[in-house]
Amino acid sequence: MTAFDPAASRAHLVEAGQAHLVEHAATLSETEAERFLAHAAAQPWAALAKAAQSESSSPATSLRPPQGLTWKRQQAQGGVRGRLAEMGQAFLAGGRVATILLAGGQGTRLGHPGPKGTYVFGPEPDRTLFKILGERIAAAGRRAGRAVPYYVLVSPATEAATREAFEEAPSWGLDPAQIHFVVQGQLPAVDDAGRGLLAAPGELAMAPDGHGGLWPALVNAGVLDELAAAGIDALTTFQVDNPLGRPLDPVMLGWMVERKAQIVSKGVAKATPDERVGVLARDISGRHRIVEYTELPDDVPESVNLGSIAVHAFGVRFLKDLFDGGYEMPLHRAHKKVAHLDAAGALVKPTEPNAWKLERFLFDIFPEADRFEVHEVKRTWEFAPVKNAEGTDSPATSRLLVDAEVRRWHTERKLPLPDPVSLHPLEVDGAEAYL
Ligand code: UTP
Repeated sequence: MTAFDPAASRAHLVEAGQAHLVEHAATLSETEAERFLAHAAAQPWAALAKAAQSESSSPATSLRPPQGLTWKRQQAQGGVRGRLAEMGQAFLAGGRVATILLAGGQGTRLGHPGPKGTYVFGPEPDRTLFKILGERIAAAGRRAGRAVPYYVLVSPATEAATREAFEEAPSWGLDPAQIHFVVQGQLPAVDDAGRGLLAAPGELAMAPDGHGGLWPALVNAGVLDELAAAGIDALTTFQVDNPLGRPLDPVMLGWMVERKAQIVSKGVAKATPDERVGVLARDISGRHRIVEYTELPDDVPESVNLGSIAVHAFGVRFLKDLFDGGYEMPLHRAHKKVAHLDAAGALVKPTEPNAWKLERFLFDIFPEADRFEVHEVKRTWEFAPVKNAEGTDSPATSRLLVDAEVRRWHTERKLPLPDPVSLHPLEVDGAEAYL
């Protein structure tokens, strides 16, 4: 490793338009200045400035519905779900599947102090989102006859509190040996000119690099190689803010096996045409992608109506080939309120967005797949997002959805309802579980 060269770092930062950071370093002690310069010089300033200054991409044109297993087909052919579930169950029992929970976000909209997974969803006082989801992964493992490797993506903002919360994981039915934490990267927040902001003296304002930070984090930590070496073929991903998320759904996994798909993504019919969710579609070149609602053209056909619920399955071979081949993820900008030091060194807490956070999107790799399949699922069975403190997609709306789903699941099986009505991983005669 080459020795740290402060002069070279200063020159590099000036060239990258970050002269103000060099000036700031001059106000720090020698050790602090070296640490700060080394950190600052390692940031990808050119890419950050470019992303901060680019308008979001133009609306996608000529969209078509995606290819995949529609809900209608699952209803029409009574046996298809059962057959696929058996295939998916065999895949799980063969130890070919791992899963990763995305839990690195800052959850600013919910405003809960701490990682979103530590939010008590209830109704029991210990039912955090981490516990609800952890119990589901444990139940899937019991049913498969082997523990499913459970990765948890954290960021420097969520790591410590998440590790602490996971000390309870044995009481959720998980074996500590099956749990692995992966820490995603951070990127500096920048102003309109692409200049880094200071969070405190000697400290850049940093933010997690988005859920797409999953991929560089897995590559850097050697996880893709680890999965391949362990004979794991599929990695599924899910979010911490959907208590109905079913990342080990045997039907989805069976569909992946049957279609030899590189990616399967779950979709639900949009509630209304203008619902603000990303839409699964095929683009003009026949590639599948998620199109953000902000990028949907006005003339999008009515048939393009499958919203993403952010549960996906990826082939490990596909991921390895993609990233071994040097695939680089694009950066997207989001205008946010970022507290920072002003030129006089005073802390400013803006009330309006003042800076750009740069993020990677997990699904930006979708168009790289040659074999992509959608798995349409029933919205009320699998989607109860917790995004905002109040109103739409809040704990209140999510709890109503979970309540309704618990009632459905039990009623259809003629089972007594739990009291209070709560989402526990019920297993019926070892043959069926809420997965
Ligand atoms: P969101 O995009 O809803 O962001 O994340 P968020 O950070 O949870 O909430 P807001 O926007 O600040 O209110 C969707 C999922 O992606 C994860 C989140 O933890 C959540 O499960 N995520 C998001 C990460 O793992 N890392 C990130 O950098 C961003």
